[in-house]
Amino acid sequence: MTTLYDKLKVLDPEYYTAERVRPYEDTIARIHKLKKERNAVVLAHNYQRPEIFEIADYTGDSLGLSLMAADVRDADVIVFCGVHFMAETAKIVNPEKTVLLPNLAAGCSLADTATGPDVAARKAELKQTYPDLQVVTYVNTTADVKAESDACCTSSNAVSVVRAMESDHILFVPDQNLARHVALNVPEKTIIAWDGFCYVHHQITPESVLAMRNQIPGIKILVHPECRDDVVALADAALSTTGMIEYAQASDAQNFLAVTECGLSDMLQINVPEKTFYRACKICRFMKAISLDDVEQALLGMKFEIEVDEPVRSRARRAIERMIDLTGSQRDNLALPRNVADE
Ligand code: 13P
Ligand code: SF4
Repeated sequence: MTTLYDKLKVLDPEYYTAERVRPYEDTIARIHKLKKERNAVVLAHNYQRPEIFEIADYTGDSLGLSLMAADVRDADVIVFCGVHFMAETAKIVNPEKTVLLPNLAAGCSLADTATGPDVAARKAELKQTYPDLQVVTYVNTTADVKAESDACCTSSNAVSVVRAMESDHILFVPDQNLARHVALNVPEKTIIAWDGFCYVHHQITPESVLAMRNQIPGIKILVHPECRDDVVALADAALSTTGMIEYAQASDAQNFLAVTECGLSDMLQINVPEKTFYRACKICRFMKAISLDDVEQALLGMKFEIEVDEPVRSRARRAIERMIDLTGSQRDNLALPRNVADE
């Protein structure tokens, strides 16, 4: 029988020692019992620590998690193992449920680059030049920024959402790299980018990706569109985290490089064990803030409860619903980023 230790040590033998992993099994059993007592479900983002996947009812990317959160019916409590804006999104789409974020250190420096009042001011300023301007907001934002938006998007549907907007002038908030990726793929529209970036993806360089391509012939390079454009340009596919998992499962290739947060390489190794995943990844300190102990404490103490006040919640919900109306649960399916496909 494969033990949890056997499973985790493959991912990182120096970190996942027997002494570290042994107590996890007891904590996981206690969490399963608490979930039943509290009638709770656990939703986890693909970047979470791999031991968190053991207690998750659903793992996915931002789009999948938003759809799943909206769909929670029978449970009373959603424990969100991700970051603050994701838990907030769950509360926005399913306000009847108690939403818990197990560790308040799980913020997001990208989301912190935009505030509602700043976006409202920039929108008013740009409308003087482009009266038809619309605001498309990446879900990696606070509720008050979503409330200022015409539609939300995630990394998996940003291109389709922008393409489907009525206006040809779009203020895209807050990730400048995703905005460039959208601009490249929707050249018929003017995209005005906010100046935020994700510190995790922005630090990945083309040199590190090229080194891997030269070292492993035939390797498939999957890049998250939060990376810089000179890194996305090297990709075989620019995809959301779940898009990368689906690509690796469907591809005939044997070797892959997932250029994103390191949790995704763990996720790929767990889900597609017959293939090889090389690493040029970086750790997000926010995504890694939540531990199994935090989840246990969250369920014991019913903390930390996420609230979103009206009217911000309803206005933010409209922007999320617009995204779903425009694209359904469809992903962009950008097998090749435009600049590579065009070569
Ligand atoms: P996706 O899982 O939607 O690709 O998002 C990545 C991310 O950076 C979340 O913070
Ligand atoms: Fe925010 Fe980047 Fe971390 Fe995602 S990976 S939570 S965007 S800092």
